[in-house]
Amino acid sequence: MATKTRSPSQSIKVGPLRRGEVDEADRIMRVAFGTYLGAPDPPTFMGDRGFLRPRWGVPHVQMLGARAGARLIGSNVVTRWGAFGFLGPLTVLPEFWNRGVAQQLLGATMPVFERWGVRRTGLFTFSNSAKHVGLYQKFGYWPGYLTAIMTRAAAPQAGPAPRLLSSLGRGAREQAVRECAALTGAIDPGLDLSDEIRATLAQHAGEVVLTGGLDGFAVCLTGAGTEGGAKTCYVKFGAARGGAGAGARFDKLMDAVEAFADARGTAVEAGVNLAREGAFRRLRARGYRTGTQGVAMQRPHAAGFNRPGAYVLDDWR
Ligand SMILES: CC(C)(COP(=O)(O)OP(=O)(O)OC[C@H]1O[C@@H](n2cnc3c(N)ncnc32)[C@H](O)[C@@H]1OP(=O)(O)O)[C@@H](O)C(=O)NCCC(=O)NCCS
Repeated sequence: MATKTRSPSQSIKVGPLRRGEVDEADRIMRVAFGTYLGAPDPPTFMGDRGFLRPRWGVPHVQMLGARAGARLIGSNVVTRWGAFGFLGPLTVLPEFWNRGVAQQLLGATMPVFERWGVRRTGLFTFSNSAKHVGLYQKFGYWPGYLTAIMTRAAAPQAGPAPRLLSSLGRGAREQAVRECAALTGAIDPGLDLSDEIRATLAQHAGEVVLTGGLDGFAVCLTGAGTEGGAKTCYVKFGAARGGAGAGARFDKLMDAVEAFADARGTAVEAGVNLAREGAFRRLRARGYRTGTQGVAMQRPHAAGFNRPGAYVLDDWR
């Protein structure tokens, strides 16, 4: 009788990732993506960009590990932005693919979201892969619009220096964090980046660029080992205040992000869901080009802040 390879393996167990496993989880993540995408040297895939280490131990992130005996063979990262959560990177060591490991990791991920009481959750995946889309559909996710990860090369002449959250005194900083939460909560009830913002500053993983009072903000990750790496200013999340004039506020925010990046000699990378038509068109008009595109999947199947009037940047990686 043929062995059923796709059912979850009895010997594989999933639980919270341990501190001592983070480096191996990082290696597996590079090997998994590098192998899937045909990179010449999978273990070095993504260079100095780190999507796992900077997210270890921060209050709004839970990491899960899958083990075969004592050996780590995969992991998933679960992130909370207030009432919204997202998952990924989800990765499994290639020799264990198609044995139900990802499903075990996802099976342990859903209770994390339930415990957090988030209203809606999402993920970003390869839109051309029936396996990926089918895997997540098993857990109640539905594909929506494409998400484009767009880039702009560094320009030699930086604009006026933007206002940075780190330059504010303690009281003003906390006040600004509250204003950021009010701004996002008006775009999508409960959407709150406060923990992401605090973690970025605490870990010196980048900066939070602010415009107006408060018209917009962007969490910009940059520097070796961060999610952006040394050569990129990665906008993990950005938003302009909604309502009339939101497009113009978004352009002001991008002016500030670009000034921040140009002063450091880095490119800008920003993800935008194509349902956010205004934001996407403005990035194109500013000369941004799509490098990678995937699809946003959400549970339940709803627009959330993937809609035309939302001037929001993120990609849920
Ligand atoms: C994507 C990845 C995490 C999947 O891990 P895995 O352990 O191989 O996945 P599983 O075996 O648990 O689940 C595979 C499921 O995909 C789905 N699937 C596979 N092919 C499919 C198809 N043609 N149509 C629909 N669904 C399909 C099925 O639900 C299948 O499980 P089933 O056969 O038991 O029903 C792993 O391949 C990986 O690490 N890839 C590289 C990194 C990556 O792409 N990560 C995800 C980024 S979003």
